Amino acid sequence: MVSSRILVAPSILSADFSRMGEEIKKIEQSGGDWVHVDVMDGCFVPNITFGPKMVEDIRKYTSLPFDVHLMTVNPDQLIERFADAGADYITFHLEAVTHAHRTVMQIQGTGKKVGVSIVPSTPAFMLQELLSELDLVLVMTVNPGFGGQKLIPSCLEKVCYLNQLRQERGYRYLIAVDGGINQFTAPQAIQAGANVLVLGSAFFLSPDPKAEIAAVKGTKFV
Ligand code: DX5
Ligand code: ZN
Repeated sequence: MVSSRILVAPSILSADFSRMGEEIKKIEQSGGDWVHVDVMDGCFVPNITFGPKMVEDIRKYTSLPFDVHLMTVNPDQLIERFADAGADYITFHLEAVTHAHRTVMQIQGTGKKVGVSIVPSTPAFMLQELLSELDLVLVMTVNPGFGGQKLIPSCLEKVCYLNQLRQERGYRYLIAVDGGINQFTAPQAIQAGANVLVLGSAFFLSPDPKAEIAAVKGTKFV
């Protein structure tokens, strides 16, 4: 049974890279649950961010779980290094690999939680053969590469589908949404069945990040 608690995972993609230690502290002090680490290689996505050394260096600033989102080709080559650096969840893109099952097994072999992500053009049923093995399904709600984009509403239908399948079959995975999530879009995502909300610009560009998290978590339904 998956907990109904909503987890907020601020993405350090939108943080000030020159003050990363303080930015990590800000996540903790504002009520963030996880640290979302967007790894971009300039190939799978048209942007470049950071590698395992960033995870290793910021690991000492918090005990919050590190949710590493690999937006890279050849994720298999990076898994051990991110595991050693201190990742808790390692998520790769279905579109980036040929043998996704093998990559899932490789992550499990490191003892870390395993996630798979899909971009907006990938249908959720493509994940079906993997779902029983997964701890996290990360549904991209924008085309990956940059923070500050607008959520693509049709992506939330995939969240509904994954939530329904999870209930019917008793799978354990959490569903994360990533891209364009803020206090105004979070209610739809939560209603669709999301458990983990990745917040980039809505957290780091907010004058009051603590209030943003409180607003997002305070979503109520009638
Ligand atoms: C997008 C990244 C996201 C991004 C979200 O490629 O995977 O994690 O940081 O940023 P916002 O919340 O600003 O859309
Ligand atoms: Zn991400």
